[in-house]
Amino acid sequence: MEVVYLKISFIGAGKVGFSLGKYFSVNNLNVKGYYSKSFKSSKEAAKFTNSTAYEDIKEIVNDSDILFITTPDDVIFNIWQQISKLNLKNKIICHTSGSLSSRIFSNANNSGAYVYSVHPMFPFSDKLNSYKKLKQAYFSIEGDKTHIEDLKNLLECLGNKVVVINGEKKHLYHLANVTVSNLALALLNLGCKYMENCGVSSEDSLKALFPLIESNIMNIKERGFLKSITGPIERGDIGTVMSHLEVIPDEDKPLYKNLSLVLLQIAREKHSEKDYSKLNEILGGI
Ligand SMILES: NC(=O)c1ccc[n+]([C@@H]2O[C@H](COP(=O)([O-])OP(=O)(O)OC[C@H]3O[C@@H](n4cnc5c(N)ncnc54)[C@H](OP(=O)(O)O)[C@@H]3O)[C@@H](O)[C@H]2O)c1
Repeated sequence: MEVVYLKISFIGAGKVGFSLGKYFSVNNLNVKGYYSKSFKSSKEAAKFTNSTAYEDIKEIVNDSDILFITTPDDVIFNIWQQISKLNLKNKIICHTSGSLSSRIFSNANNSGAYVYSVHPMFPFSDKLNSYKKLKQAYFSIEGDKTHIEDLKNLLECLGNKVVVINGEKKHLYHLANVTVSNLALALLNLGCKYMENCGVSSEDSLKALFPLIESNIMNIKERGFLKSITGPIERGDIGTVMSHLEVIPDEDKPLYKNLSLVLLQIAREKHSEKDYSKLNEILGGI
């Protein structure tokens, strides 16, 4: 199947709808148009991508071969209920949620449609500019076997890498994404707060800590976790860990201990000869 010639449309003209549509259109895919809750959003997205704004969901479904539902997660099922009453024979229906699987499209077989979740592993913070960096993003796909390879090829043609995952693992997959993005943000914020409590301004705290953040991330990218680990846990500096536990607010102690135990596992893998048992005990490890 030559998916690159198929007509692609979007239901939900928000950050992801705008960005994917623009990314597809600048890469010469056939973007047909947009339907959204407000016609104003549909018109803006259509103008941005040189495509059509639809007022009627039936019409956009009729005119498209591939439909991306890019509404908030909680709305996807509602849209499916509306469109599954229409003629979907041989159409490819995708949503872009990271946590939901293609199973949200219940009884898809009866509709004649092929259903997928296609998740861009990328933060879309800006509907007008995020598309510019989208080439670097990995996508994950899961769903009906029939067109998995076609969708994979479509994205790979644009230069993206694609991982095919099992729909049953979708929540675990989303946990992975949230851990390295949202939870990492929370952790960095906490570090900056500690710095501010030393009397450094909030602006300077982030600026001062940033080289540490950035070089750590780059080391992990270039050398992997084992070669990048540094610090008191790896060294087995019990005194330093004790001094942290003395100053850390009580509510943050479990987080510190749990993350340190994860570091301890990495350290043990790296230095199998080293005895970390005392440190393990202090951190409450088993
Ligand atoms: N943002 C990210 O970083 C990101 C990353 C990967 C995946 N995703 C996934 O992508 C999807 C969209 O996220 P987003 O960040 O683009 O959300 P968003 O910016 O809030 O956009 C959602 C759009 O859906 C439209 N909408 C809401 N209810 C609707 C309805 N009943 N019928 C038709 N359109 C409706 C809204 O349109 P109006 O403007 O017309 O009100 C809104 O513009 C979600 O499934 C999300 O999990 C997001």
